[in-house]
Amino acid sequence: MPGKRLRPPGPKGAPIIGVALKIAKDTTGFLTKTASEFEDLSYFKVLNLNIYFLTKPEYVQHVLQVNNKNYHKGVKYKFLKMFLGKGLLTSEGEFWLHQRRLAQPAFHKHKIASFAETMTGDTSDMMAEWEKRIVNGNNEVDMHHEMMALTLRIVGKTLLSKDLKMSSMDLESSLGYLVQDIFRRVHSAIDLPLWVPTSQNLGFKKARKVIDDVINKIIEDRISGTSSGEDLLSMLMEAEDEDTGEKMSAEQLRDEVMTIFVAGHETTANALTWTLYLLSTHPEVMTTLRAEIKEVLNGRTPGLEDSRNLKYTTQVLEESMRLYPPAWIIERAAIGDDTIGDFEINKGDQMMMCPYVMHRDPKYWKDPETFDPDRFSEERSKERDRYCYFPFGGGPRYCIGTNFAMLEMQLVLASICQRYSFSVKEGFHVAIEPLVTLRPKNGMPMVLKKLSV
Ligand code: HEM
Repeated sequence: MPGKRLRPPGPKGAPIIGVALKIAKDTTGFLTKTASEFEDLSYFKVLNLNIYFLTKPEYVQHVLQVNNKNYHKGVKYKFLKMFLGKGLLTSEGEFWLHQRRLAQPAFHKHKIASFAETMTGDTSDMMAEWEKRIVNGNNEVDMHHEMMALTLRIVGKTLLSKDLKMSSMDLESSLGYLVQDIFRRVHSAIDLPLWVPTSQNLGFKKARKVIDDVINKIIEDRISGTSSGEDLLSMLMEAEDEDTGEKMSAEQLRDEVMTIFVAGHETTANALTWTLYLLSTHPEVMTTLRAEIKEVLNGRTPGLEDSRNLKYTTQVLEESMRLYPPAWIIERAAIGDDTIGDFEINKGDQMMMCPYVMHRDPKYWKDPETFDPDRFSEERSKERDRYCYFPFGGGPRYCIGTNFAMLEMQLVLASICQRYSFSVKEGFHVAIEPLVTLRPKNGMPMVLKKLSV
């Protein structure tokens, strides 16, 4: 077509490997620089992959929503599939749509409502442990570890009616191992199939087995009637295809449970950790937040009915996910040719969209590095393009757990800030670690102080 160019401009890479080394060295730094140097759409190569980096809201919307049928999940998902199977996060096309329709009702606001008590109950248990620690003269915690353990426990109870606290050390370390392993595989030039007995493959299988054993046993007990529960698993087991009356197979249940288990805990834990960090370094925001918590709760434990009144609390969480979006990168692969702006997209090209970069782009945000929850007031939110801010994705593959996550984070945050103040341990250097999700590097050691309510 006249006037069309094949590839947008972009950073130059080395022969064969492209920009692989630059990306590996400092991923978010590389992407931020690329977004500022090239307009809206840039192109680079990583090994044999043709990558299009989209930094214009309209283009992000095109891929995630308008022409979403032309885009499947990107290369990273091949590795996620190794342990999530054909769950919602990793499946495609008709199969995905069928599963999404079956699962969607379980995540409806009024179904999630019944989980509020578990969320606050587990938070109170965690804080009771903190209190014991403090009495014993130890007021330090790794907040990231605390949030991972808490959200794992909450997802365990709400999804499976199981208190995974006893085994959560094993589960947590196995999950942590798998996340790091998948990241290594995504960035490795050599990808040996799982049957090759390398130490990496053996480690992967061992960690996957720890999680599989726990989940498969729970599903088996449920199917055989040995156990029961009013939880997400029971809703998934009851869900029937409208036309055929068919229910999910044990294998499909395993994949969906594993997916929700993984997608539903680390993201939320990271968002909470970053929020607590930001609050600890912005006392004026903390003061406003505590004033709201006092007005709404007046010292009592928050509940479902409070969630719509905790407006500033919600804004704090939204602003925190702007600066530290847990799902910091979203990728797709074109399954057919397309056109974006002036450029042709060919089948197989990889689309990269980075909430971390777009959420901090001065083109779309005034003082982007400033933590300012007022940006998310109703009034100021009206000015914003929907696709400048997409911590939960967009289009039909929008996060199914959004309501769950927002309720959980509101309740946990209000509970903690009502009872504790916290600050980052002196001398600790806070840094991001962009793996599958955006983790704090080396955790988040914090010093706690109990407040008199
Ligand atoms: C702060 C917390 C969370 C964040 C930031 C988050 C973010 C996201 C994002 C960005 C996607 C879309 C990925 C893509 O388009 O490639 C997604 C999908 C998904 N999320 Fe979440 N999520 C969170 C919490 C949860 C929770 C609590 C659950 C479940 C209890 C959950 C379950 C899922 C599932 C199953 C999908 C796949 C949906 C589909 O493709 O149909 N997430 N999430």
